[in-house]
Amino acid sequence: MALLRWSKKYSVGVKAMDDQHIALVRILNEMHSEFEKGQAQSATGKLLRKLTEYAHTHFSSEEEMLASAGFPGLEQQREQHRELLRQLDEYGTRYQQGDQTVYLPLLFFVRDWLTTHMLKEDKEYGPWMNKLGIH
Ligand SMILES: [Fe+2]
Repeated sequence: MALLRWSKKYSVGVKAMDDQHIALVRILNEMHSEFEKGQAQSATGKLLRKLTEYAHTHFSSEEEMLASAGFPGLEQQREQHRELLRQLDEYGTRYQQGDQTVYLPLLFFVRDWLTTHMLKEDKEYGPWMNKLGIH
């Protein structure tokens, strides 16, 4: 069962960004399915790396898009992105140090973060981009 299912309500109004969010949701659900299979501990390292890499990619393209659109909230976006990457790093460190309990809090952290990222943080740039004709 998917932990989070993308639907229209999560759309930020820009198709390219929605597609990247969908890819992030997919990684989250992959993590959840390993958990359901009882393979969470062995899969954490690989999936956490995958998620972190993709988050980097997504944030770069988001920031590039917002910078070229002159979006006034860019600095706040950058700050939110830095903070998320810092937190993912912390989970990575805990895992590398042998913390066996990191998986579940990580799952819920990523779910909550993604939900807020799509419903709140990124919704803010939708109208700005749409005004410039980017959908
Ligand atoms: Fe985003």
